[in-house]
Amino acid sequence: MPEHIFPIHDRMVQFNDRCKRLNQHPICLWFCGLSGSGKSTIAIGLEKKLFQEGYIAQILDGDNIRNGINANLGFSEADRAENIRRVAEISKLYLQSGLITINSFISPTKVIRAQAQAIIGPKYFKEIYINASLEACEARDVKGLYKKARSGAIKGFTGIDSPFEAPDQPFMTIQTEAQSPEWCIDQLFEAIEPLIQFKGDAYE
Ligand code: ADX
Repeated sequence: MPEHIFPIHDRMVQFNDRCKRLNQHPICLWFCGLSGSGKSTIAIGLEKKLFQEGYIAQILDGDNIRNGINANLGFSEADRAENIRRVAEISKLYLQSGLITINSFISPTKVIRAQAQAIIGPKYFKEIYINASLEACEARDVKGLYKKARSGAIKGFTGIDSPFEAPDQPFMTIQTEAQSPEWCIDQLFEAIEPLIQFKGDAYE
């Protein structure tokens, strides 16, 4: 612990009491995948579905976060690592508040995601691979960024001239090319519901 710092965790409202009040067990759903793979679409749909079913979640999304707290970061390896480190710490605060988080970040390397998992804790961190082929993402090109990356106007674009490493053993893989967003969201909701149901005090 840093010098001259005196955390007050033990005197704050306790985690289990928050879970009981919110009637849920928080986890972090960590979406990784290429730009344009469907991360934000699935995150938005899932948040809505969770809300309808009585759960409270918070989306943390790359483009939003990079417009605010991480506006000073670019896309070098070091900046991406710092982007993810901060987001993992923010998620941890949400989780401690009793909220489910849906984190939607390219988070391109296994090392970066392992760092996020280490901060959040393996018990809470559920890696979801939002999978669409580079060809499909590039054909969608929702933001026009692949075109710019191909023309050289953007350097170091993930999938073009910067790497993306698919996870080896994600909690779940969502194939957005083959299935509708609605179907993907329902599948994901069914898979996570047993994890987020409040089952009593014995979480820690
Ligand atoms: S991460 O690699 O650090 O996890 P993050 O998810 O926060 O990335 O941000 C990705 C978003 O930033 C993309 O969806 C895209 O809109 C935008 N972006 C701008 N430049 C790049 C780039 N060089 N590589 C990837 N995404 C980029």
